[in-house]
Amino acid sequence: MIARHSIDQVLESAPIEDVVGQYLTLKRRGVNMIGLCPFHDEKTPSFNVNPTRGIYKCFGCGKGGNAIQFVMDVEQLPFAEAVRQLAKRFGVELAETGQQEQEEEQEAQRQRENLFAALAFAGDYFVKQLQESEKGKAIALEYFYERGFTTETIRRWELGYSDANWSGLLDAAVKAGLEKEVLASASLVKQSESGRWFDMFRNRVMFPIHSVNGRIVAFAGRLMGKAEGQPKYVNSAESPVYHKSDHLFGLFQARNSIKKADRVYLTEGYTDVITLAQAGIENVVASSGTALTENQIRLLRRFTSNVTVLYDGDQAGIKASMRGIDLLLKEDLNVRVVLFPQGEDPDSYCQSLGGPAFTEFLQKTEKNFILFKADLLFADAGNDPIRRAEVIRDILQSLALIRDTIKRVELLKELAGIAGQSQETLLYELNRIVRGNWQKDGEDTQREIDRIAEQAQLEPVSVSFSDEHQERGLLAFMIRFGTLRTGEEEPMLWEIAMAELNEGTDIVFNNPLCARTFDALRSLHAANQPLTDNFFTVTDDTELSSFVSDVLSRQYTLSDAWAKNDIQVLTEAQNALEELTSIFNHLRRKKIELTIQDSLSRLAELGPDEDWEQLLEYQMYLMEKRRELTEPLGTVVTNYTSVQTKQ
Ligand code: UTP
Ligand code: MN
Repeated sequence: MIARHSIDQVLESAPIEDVVGQYLTLKRRGVNMIGLCPFHDEKTPSFNVNPTRGIYKCFGCGKGGNAIQFVMDVEQLPFAEAVRQLAKRFGVELAETGQQEQEEEQEAQRQRENLFAALAFAGDYFVKQLQESEKGKAIALEYFYERGFTTETIRRWELGYSDANWSGLLDAAVKAGLEKEVLASASLVKQSESGRWFDMFRNRVMFPIHSVNGRIVAFAGRLMGKAEGQPKYVNSAESPVYHKSDHLFGLFQARNSIKKADRVYLTEGYTDVITLAQAGIENVVASSGTALTENQIRLLRRFTSNVTVLYDGDQAGIKASMRGIDLLLKEDLNVRVVLFPQGEDPDSYCQSLGGPAFTEFLQKTEKNFILFKADLLFADAGNDPIRRAEVIRDILQSLALIRDTIKRVELLKELAGIAGQSQETLLYELNRIVRGNWQKDGEDTQREIDRIAEQAQLEPVSVSFSDEHQERGLLAFMIRFGTLRTGEEEPMLWEIAMAELNEGTDIVFNNPLCARTFDALRSLHAANQPLTDNFFTVTDDTELSSFVSDVLSRQYTLSDAWAKNDIQVLTEAQNALEELTSIFNHLRRKKIELTIQDSLSRLAELGPDEDWEQLLEYQMYLMEKRRELTEPLGTVVTNYTSVQTKQ
């Protein structure tokens, strides 16, 4: 394979006008050069070359591209051959990847294998120290027994002991033929400023950390008892085989059990995992005291989508880790939590209750995360209405991360009870958040497209409705919600609809009376005036007033008007916003579609003297956006069913 940088170098070294000039005569015309197209028969030249950008385009047959593409087309060569030919002609020495990269990759792999070997050696060494050395047996093994670990558990988890000697492991490893540098990059030994080498782990009980495939990638060493100024655990530093955020302690041992139980218990500590596994709860892993990372979550998701987080009973810690749990929700996992009594962690509590009672405790206490969070935060907020409102928003934000709408609604119902709010109010708020999350993306895209269109000097396109029925339907809808003042929601609907119509999509009404009605609404909105019942009736414009009363009398429903666009629309007032949203999203996509068509036809019309390069680039950008926008935008819960916005 030819290296990427060589290809770039070829493109830089091969002037397009020289490459093309070999096959046809080019004449300068403005910034471009022009000639007779080699790809089709023509009498007047329509083949354009832009030397600055290194591209060509024929306005007769449409072929276009860079120097490499030209050689491929004209010589009928595959890509690599075209590059080689150009390289030869313009004196570029091609770097072939493959060879060099392969060698580098092989070297890296060799290094990783060396690290694994050193880590495996250290693992054995620590186990031997624990099981065979006098101090290991007397102090470290005793320590594990005191913590309630059985002989079988100690063997299964390959627990070990690092002696107090400054170079026990180092000496043994060097004697066995391992290199100091390799030991150092596995962070097993270190070199002091003065050049002396020494062990990283000294006089600690050792917990090996395995990759999901069972190779030792790191260690944690725990103090036995207390020592002033020393950390309780010392952990291996990152290395080419150990990235902390990619591993979970215990996953290798737990993976089959996790699959079988279709659930994983997530704890914080090494000892939590070991104790629970010993008690028969084997589907347990530890995050090792840090916030969960996305990689860890993806790793877990290979085995289950049900996570139960086991929390030590300390409130500050719990609140701090709630954000991390949002991450679990976002990755589409079902999250439950168990809170432990003050001062207990899973290890200590399991040791004191025993396996069966502990399992029962888990099953009894386990609670959906959202509801758990609600209980906790509402208790905290007390009766303060402002804080309660904040709590609701906070929880709804978590809830909005759950993609399964049925689940979302079930939780919402329970939440309504806890919050002392109606389900409708919460549903409305929730949908605002959900919609906000994905609408923001859509609007950003829209703005970007408008900006580029302006640069490319394209007039912004407007979208119109498919038929008058839709126009009337939307207007009737807006007037109804603009004038209704029975609840809190209607004025908001009117606001949102107006804002969308004004800014979001540049919608054009084709029927002149519809357009006039809309203009009247728009001026009203611009003047910050409310829409009153008699706004359209008490007016000199009798044509308009009779039109509006006709519109209103016919009981248009949006559902009818949009049914044929395959947009599923619901009819209840509470769901009006959802209806509007799907309509506006449909219009947004339609606008992009129209913009693409528009720029396509302009591109076809454009003469060679005009700025076709920019339009070509714009075209490609739009196509990409269209691809992005045809991804589903999201699902909104409406009245306990779900509406998928369709493309
Ligand atoms: P804890 O302090 O809760 O320890 O830290 P623990 O797991 O209950 O351990 P024991 O029962 O006292 O032996 C939880 C986790 O945080 C990480 C470790 O992964 C630990 O298991 N930790 C804690 C460290 O990495 N370094 C420390 O100094 C302390
Ligand atoms: Mn503990």
